[in-house]
Amino acid sequence: MSHKRVAILISGGGSNMVSLVDSMTGDHPARPCLVLSNKAEAGGLDKARARGIPTAVVDHRPHGGDRGAFEAELIKPLLLAEPDIICLAGFMRVLTGDFVAQFEGRMLNIHPSLLPKYKGLNTHARALRAGDMQAGCSVHQVTAALDDGPILGQAIVPVLDDDTPDSLAARVLVQEHVLYPAVLRSFAAGMTQPVMIDAT
Ligand code: GRF
Repeated sequence: MSHKRVAILISGGGSNMVSLVDSMTGDHPARPCLVLSNKAEAGGLDKARARGIPTAVVDHRPHGGDRGAFEAELIKPLLLAEPDIICLAGFMRVLTGDFVAQFEGRMLNIHPSLLPKYKGLNTHARALRAGDMQAGCSVHQVTAALDDGPILGQAIVPVLDDDTPDSLAARVLVQEHVLYPAVLRSFAAGMTQPVMIDAT
């Protein structure tokens, strides 16, 4: 059986990328083929290299706010890697609808909230400010609308009385590292049943 090829896009430490990469072993139907970052200094790049995974960097900064120009460069190493699935994992650039359309149905993202609540940034502070008793993370298919595509899995964690955005983020991140690999394995195997984890 030939494995599904997975490209992972990162912007920072890449803890989700590491969890995904380290899960793709044995009878897992997928294998990593590229780790691509928009930042040369992303800590995740060294972790990918240490695991023998091809890496590439396409810096968004020379392109100013011209998303099209950045994406015209970003697409090059991506197509060269011939991925079957693309995982955004702590990738902090908004992609245009045109770019996403080339991979629609096979591009995943992990977002640190229980979508459809709290699309966008500062999700944990917003959940705390709202007095939510639960929080969590979601893996969804990427569509043109930000943080809006079909949900492929969610993990729920409790919000504690003394939580700060950082303490809540840390609790959620633990579950991100469980959820994303579980969703990728299911997705790569062609399953469509969402993965639900209740860690409350
Ligand atoms: C995580 O909170 C994830 O939910 C968000 O980016 C943060 C850092 O991810 N997408 P990583 O450690 O770089 O994988």
